[in-house]
Amino acid sequence: MAEIIFLIILYTSIIISAEHCVPRSFGDDSNVCVCNATYCDSVILQLPHDGQFRIYESSKSGQRLQSRLDHFDTMKENGIKLYLQLEKKYQTIHGFGGAFTDSAGMNIESLSDSTQEKLLQSYFSEGGSRYNLGRVPVGGTDFSTRPYTLDDTPEDISLKKFSLTKEDTDYKIPFMKRALEMNNELNFIAASWTAPAWMKTNNNYTGFLGFLKKQYYQTYAEYLVKFLEIYKSRGLKIWAISTGNEPANAFVPELVKFNDMGWTPNTVTPWVINNLGPTINNSTSNETIILALDDQRFDLPWYIQAMYEYSNEIDKYIAGIATHWYMDNYFSIDLYDRTHSAFPNKFLLMTEACTGSASWDIPKVRLGSWQRGERYITSIIDVKLKFFNFIFK
Ligand SMILES: *[C@@H]1O[C@H](CO)[C@@H](O)[C@H](O)[C@H]1NC(C)=O
Ligand SMILES: *[C@@H]1O[C@H](CO)[C@@H](O)[C@H](O)[C@H]1NC(C)=O
Ligand SMILES: *[C@@H]1O[C@H](CO)[C@@H](O)[C@H](O)[C@H]1NC(C)=O
Ligand SMILES: *[C@@H]1O[C@H](CO)[C@@H](O)[C@H](O)[C@H]1NC(C)=O
Ligand SMILES: *[C@@H]1O[C@H](CO)[C@@H](O)[C@H](O)[C@H]1NC(C)=O
Repeated sequence: MAEIIFLIILYTSIIISAEHCVPRSFGDDSNVCVCNATYCDSVILQLPHDGQFRIYESSKSGQRLQSRLDHFDTMKENGIKLYLQLEKKYQTIHGFGGAFTDSAGMNIESLSDSTQEKLLQSYFSEGGSRYNLGRVPVGGTDFSTRPYTLDDTPEDISLKKFSLTKEDTDYKIPFMKRALEMNNELNFIAASWTAPAWMKTNNNYTGFLGFLKKQYYQTYAEYLVKFLEIYKSRGLKIWAISTGNEPANAFVPELVKFNDMGWTPNTVTPWVINNLGPTINNSTSNETIILALDDQRFDLPWYIQAMYEYSNEIDKYIAGIATHWYMDNYFSIDLYDRTHSAFPNKFLLMTEACTGSASWDIPKVRLGSWQRGERYITSIIDVKLKFFNFIFK
């Protein structure tokens, strides 16, 4: 008797679902999408088949990553040509991200557990923006409620009193860990706004012409490596650390009221070569790379060139160049091109941008401001298109 085996193959249809934006107006020129304890909009990326492409559209009038499928044939019919210059290559895009500042953490912490989860998902998870870069300040910043560093005990040369603060343990580390669970490809970039006041020439967290005292060059390098190691011991490996946030601020009298410390090419270069570089290399955090500058575009490319003029040795310690967006309106995007041609092996990465920073930008928080959204969009297109190769004709 023959036995007939029926093989039933079940084609389980994978249900791809995304939550739509539930719009809410706060009186500005566009809407926000509601994100609360039970609901948050999301988006699922679906790859199109050959000959098709998918368009995601957002608009002032209310679309939020609304997706539709289209065919290249329709483009042809409409006379639109898309040229891909495959032979011309620029640098790889490292990704997109945000910052784990004190204020971000304090605001997230003020929400209910489930709203926190939904909010973090909307930034880091598959159904969200999939941020894969996160900047984390070493100590306090202009997004802190007080000036502080991780060792504020005067003349603690052996760094015995170095310790994490409430801001680290309550507002940064927990959210960095949850974000990392949502996207295990999340890379953290650390930046210190200042050395402890006692290591500085002006004995202050901020102020005009505050520099690191030469006698503390090595101590400060050890301070930063302690930060890398302690975060690593908490499961948070730091991918990159910059030489310090906005070193030019210390040269603007009466402008800066928050943590800052000045560096020039002639001081930062020997510090990296003799202290920061070797101290990181000798530590258990030796895989952390160093980014130069961490300041505005107007420092390009002369600041980096001046570092190399001081000593070519710098080349082996610097992996990339970090820049900020303030005053981009006044300094051409060509400065990136010139930097890239002069230092093709050093990647360029924008590490800071925020709207509402100018004194005339009132109110500081504007929920649903399309105008502010557009500033980010324009900057991303301006900068990133340099590294893509699309030409629309
Ligand atoms: C969350 O927002 C959704 C969509 O607006 C709404 O239906 C739901 O009642 C809200 N839930 C809470 C807990 O507010
Ligand atoms: C630090 O510098 C700021 C800005 O110049 C100044 O207002 C403040 O009084 C200084 N603090 C100390 C302790 O010197
Ligand atoms: C790094 O290690 C080398 C070799 O052990 C040593 O000579 C050097 O002094 C160390 N440098 C620093 C800054 O720790
Ligand atoms: C890093 O340390 C290793 C030894 O651990 C040494 O061989 C190497 O030259 C060092 N690299 C730099 C850039 O200092
Ligand atoms: C980094 O340190 C590890 C040990 O912690 C060592 O095995 C490795 O060779 C080091 N890498 C470099 C580039 O020095």
